[in-house]
Amino acid sequence: MAKLLHLSCSPRADSESSAGARIFLDGFRQARPDWDIDVVDLWRDRMPEFAGPIVQAKYARMNGEAFNDAQRDGFAEAERMAVRFSLAERVLISTPMWNFGIPYKLKQWFDVVIQPGLTFRFDPAQGYLPLLKDRPTIVILASGSDFATGMNRGRTDMATPYLREALRFIGVSDVRFVPIGPTAGPAEAIRAARDSAHRRLAEMAKRF
Ligand SMILES: Cc1cc2nc3c(=O)[nH]c(=O)nc-3n(C[C@H](O)[C@H](O)[C@H](O)COP(=O)(O)O)c2cc1C
Repeated sequence: MAKLLHLSCSPRADSESSAGARIFLDGFRQARPDWDIDVVDLWRDRMPEFAGPIVQAKYARMNGEAFNDAQRDGFAEAERMAVRFSLAERVLISTPMWNFGIPYKLKQWFDVVIQPGLTFRFDPAQGYLPLLKDRPTIVILASGSDFATGMNRGRTDMATPYLREALRFIGVSDVRFVPIGPTAGPAEAIRAARDSAHRRLAEMAKRF
């Protein structure tokens, strides 16, 4: 069965990025009722700490060394997470902006799955090469500030360039960003930003 993977990255019950994801997925289910939607909730699902055997495994791979048993087990956890992603024909990431970037759980997810021989490889002549195939991907990014219209009062968005680069590094370049913000401040501006993002998401869902 064709699959959409949803990486859900806000821990909040009244999350704006999750609300945007619900609008998108409602439309997507109507457009493609036969698709499987696989939800990875980064705050509920178990994710390995990137320490000990799993980080050693990364260095062993990079240095062309064989794994010991613990490293093999650590790498297998990364493999399971990466395979879940790679089996999806479509990807939806809904995430808050936290401290100019992404929540640490989403960074942890990237740190675990970006592994040599799994999602990228190094070629001495060509440099770093992605191992995953490209696939349509949407990132819903909720922020207290307004990054959609540029009224960001001098605040910085490092989430968008980070996500674009991290996904491109493993092979996913077909990425569209849907900012939702401001989600803080005057109620009217929050409502307008939410409504405009939801309209856009409902439209995108029909053709995703
Ligand atoms: C720890 C933390 C850091 C934040 N940092 C930023 C930031 O750097 N820029 C910004 O515009 N908003 C920031 N915010 C506000 C959130 O982006 C905003 O509340 C957003 O709606 C969160 O997404 P969610 O509603 O999906 O949980 C921060 C919020 C938290 C809790």
